[in-house]
Order: sequence, then C-alpha cells, then structure tokens
Amino acid sequence: MYDNNPTLVGIKKEIDEAKQGQVFFDEKALAGSPFSEGKKPSNGKHFYIESYGCAMNFSDSEIVASILADVGFRPTRQLEEADLILVNTCSIREKAEETVRQRLNVFAKMKRKRPGTMVGVLGCMAERLKSKFLEEEKLVDMVIGPDAYRDLPNLVAGAEEGERGVNVLLSREETYADISPLRLDDNGVTAFISIMRGCNNMCSFCVVPFTRGRERSRDCFSIVSEAQDLYSRGYREVTLLGQNVDSYCWENPETQEVVNFANLLEMVAQVHPDLRVRFSTSHPKDITDEVLHTMARYENICKYIHLPVQSGNSVVLERMNRTYDREWYMQRVEAIYRIIPECAISSDIIAGFCGEQEHEHQDTLSMVEWANYSMSYMFFYSERPGTLAARKYPDDIPEEVKKRRLQEIVDKQSEVSLRHNKADIGKTFKVLIEGDSKKSNKQFKGRNSQNKMIVFSKVNGLKPGDYAWVKVTGATSATLMGEIAFP
Ligand code: SAH
Ligand code: SF4
Ligand code: F3S
Repeated sequence: MYDNNPTLVGIKKEIDEAKQGQVFFDEKALAGSPFSEGKKPSNGKHFYIESYGCAMNFSDSEIVASILADVGFRPTRQLEEADLILVNTCSIREKAEETVRQRLNVFAKMKRKRPGTMVGVLGCMAERLKSKFLEEEKLVDMVIGPDAYRDLPNLVAGAEEGERGVNVLLSREETYADISPLRLDDNGVTAFISIMRGCNNMCSFCVVPFTRGRERSRDCFSIVSEAQDLYSRGYREVTLLGQNVDSYCWENPETQEVVNFANLLEMVAQVHPDLRVRFSTSHPKDITDEVLHTMARYENICKYIHLPVQSGNSVVLERMNRTYDREWYMQRVEAIYRIIPECAISSDIIAGFCGEQEHEHQDTLSMVEWANYSMSYMFFYSERPGTLAARKYPDDIPEEVKKRRLQEIVDKQSEVSLRHNKADIGKTFKVLIEGDSKKSNKQFKGRNSQNKMIVFSKVNGLKPGDYAWVKVTGATSATLMGEIAFP
C-alpha cells in the first residue's frame, strides 16, 4: 500500500520507501570531512551500512560512520568488500522488522563466503529485542542500541576476537553533540541535523519511547555550529530533526537561560539568509504561535509543517493517547494558515487503529479534505509488542477492513494533493536545486519552500545548490513541472 502510493514520492521526512536500506557513501563523503585530513589513518578495513526507518535513523548512521572512521574503518558500498556489515533497523511496524530479518539472511550468506566478516545490528530493533537478537540470529555478532554507538569500537574489537556483544543501555544525556557526522547519501546541498533524541510522549500505538528512551535536547550552540559548518561547505538546506521538535528545551548550564524551539529556529535561521531551515516532526499538542511567528519572520525558514494527525476522530485520538482532540488540531491548523498563509501542511495517518468505527474513519477522511494536506504518510495499524495499545486494546479491526480504509485515505489524499498541486500552476517559486531529476539528466529537481518537488529543464550556468525561480506549468499529485522564470 505504502509502496504504491504516489503521494509519498520524493518526500524527505520519513525517508521514502525507495531509499530504505540504501547504502550510501562513496569516497566523496570523506572529502571535506575531518577524516580526509589524514588524522585518522585507515586500518585497512571496510564497513558497509544499510539504514531503515525514519530520518533520525539515517542521521544516526552518519554518527556511526563518523565513530568508525575515527578508529580507522573506511566506508564501502560493496557488501563483498566489507569486513563489518551494519544494519540500522526500525521497529515502527511489523513490516519494517520483517525486511531486516530478510536482509540478515543475505548477510549470513556473505559471512559463509567470507568467514571473519562481522555483522552488527543497530537501531530500534536492537533496542527492542536486546540480547534475544543474539539467540534468534546466530550470525549476528553485535547488538547496539541508539544511545550506545560510542561503544561500537569496543564491540567491534571484541567481535574480532570472536566475542558476541550487546550494548543497549539507554541514556538520559547522550546527544552525540560533539560528533561531527560523516555525511552519507550526499547531494552536497541538503543535510539533517539531529537536535534532540528520544520521546516522552506515550502515544499508545508507538514503540519509539521504548526504543529511543527519554527525551533530551542537544546544546543549541553545537547545533548552530553544525549548521555554520554545513553552510561553509556549500550546503544550502538543513532539516532539524526530533521526534517532537516543539518540545526542544535546552538550558544553558552557565547562564541558566532556557532555549526553546522557536529560539533555536531563529538562531539557525540567522546562520545565513541563503541557508534554508526545515524541521520535523511537530506535535499538534506542542506547536506554539511563537514558532509560527518565527517562521513567518524569516524567509529562509521553509513554509512547510509536518503535523501528524493520526486520526480525525477525538475518541480514537484519546485511545491513541495523542493528548489533543479534533477541535484542538483544527484550531492549530487554522493558526498556521492565519499566521503563515502560504504554508503547506502534511500529515501521518493510521488506518484501522484498535476499535475504530466506520464513522470514526469517516472523520479521518474529512480531516484530510478540511486540512488540505499537501501530502501524507499513511499506514495501517500494526500492533507493536509492549506498547500501551498492545496491552490495553485488542487489535480488532480485520486486516481487509484496515486495508480498505487505508486505500480510501490514500485515494482521498491523492485527490487533495492533486488539487493542492494544480493550484500552483502559473505561480513562480524560489527553488533550491538538489540535482538531476530521476528521469533525465537534462532536467533538475528541487524543492520550493512548501517542500514540493519541482522538475524543470536545465539552463546553462545553474548547478545544484543554486536557487532558481521556477514557474509551474504542470502538476501530478506527487510532483510539479516547471520552467525557469529567472535564475
Ligand atoms: N514522532 C513522530 C512519529 C514517528 S513514527 C510523530 O509523533 O509524529 C512515524 C509515524 O509512524 C507515526 O506518525 C505514525 O503515523 C506511524 N506509526 C507509528 N506507530 C505505528 C504503528 N504501530 N502502526 C502503524 N503506524 C504507526
Ligand atoms: Fe511515537 Fe508519539 Fe513519540 Fe511520535 S510523539 S515518536 S508517535 S510516541
Ligand atoms: Fe525511527 Fe523506526 Fe526507530 S521510525 S525512531 S527507526 S522505530
């Protein structure tokens, strides 16, 4: 369902399905990074890393790459060449875990071909299953949770001696603030910056609080200097990442001054007017008017908010423990359109949550229409062991009903996305060029402030990282087509 959904194409918040498991990296990623300066000599060994799940996981893989490069490992895209194979896993839905299990079978084959190859499982599945993983998957040498990546070199050293190891300790402090990520999947234009870790919300369907631990915010100055460094290396867009960015809160230990998300956003926006700032994810219960006014004040803060509704019905929202109701959500959407009229809003939606009635599902459909989402990520409910919902509510919606409801939501969203996109025809947008379009090297692709992908024919003199003014000439539900108005 997710895979066939055209409205998902090319959106970055949750890494789209086509990219899941993608292996990034080439030697270019090392150039311009602290590791290229010869400080960290190679140990002659290579690591290979595959990532699944959300942007946070992809961003974590860049931290892991940095930690490994620090002890002499070098990246490779070739599985066959790897001395260390890592898979950064996701537990959000059952299907995500199944995909990883299948990959582990492939890695087992590699290991049989090349004895001595080490296999490590990172991320949310590692945290959820802990040492059980070593019992279930005999080929796995290491299981490392999201807060334990600094211990990776030790575990690797142990594995080289034939020891199987686990470190899944969750931390109240770890933010990896001092680690300069080794940029993977690098277009040289856009980058993620992790601003906080963990989640204190207890949405009843969600496994993240269990796999990622308590919420903690990163030192704002390290965030700003990471943005400055990226800008000076030619990047032109940063996405500030957190499970709930609106609850960012960092207290300066010297001055006791408290920095909230609106303050942080402003600090990053001031790095340079040509550095675009995005963020994800906003929680409807926490997004403040102060954040919205800050967005309105800065041209380089993108006019796009991912504001997951999950369900359009208040009773379902209560069972989901989202701590807002339909009216509150609508009032937040109204505030966004009032304060930032040109803002686009997108959403996450779960179909067929425990006990969901037909009329409650209809409320979700009407919300898609009313909120006029530019796009949505849509899923059917997948029970996760240990969550509040798994303990409290039976997973009682039959699979075919879940799928039918999901399809109705997907169809509704496609219709709304198409309308939203068609309304842009004739308008001219400032687009940040990211690279060649998927279909042709004669075309560029780039995004406007509203996070819509626009494809247009190349003209001389323009390159990735440049801004161009593009007039929209056509639209599908997923993409806008345009032509250069002026560079
Ligand atoms: N912190 C983000 C969400 C991270 S998970 C937020 O609060 O918005 C991304 C999305 O996966 C969620 O928004 C939700 O729509 C979906 N999701 C989470 N748990 C799920 C489950 N058990 N079954 C189906 N979808 C789920
Ligand atoms: Fe999960 Fe809710 Fe936290 Fe998002 S806010 S990560 S959905 S618990
Ligand atoms: Fe992200 Fe999946 Fe973990 S969505 S936080 S990688 S469970």
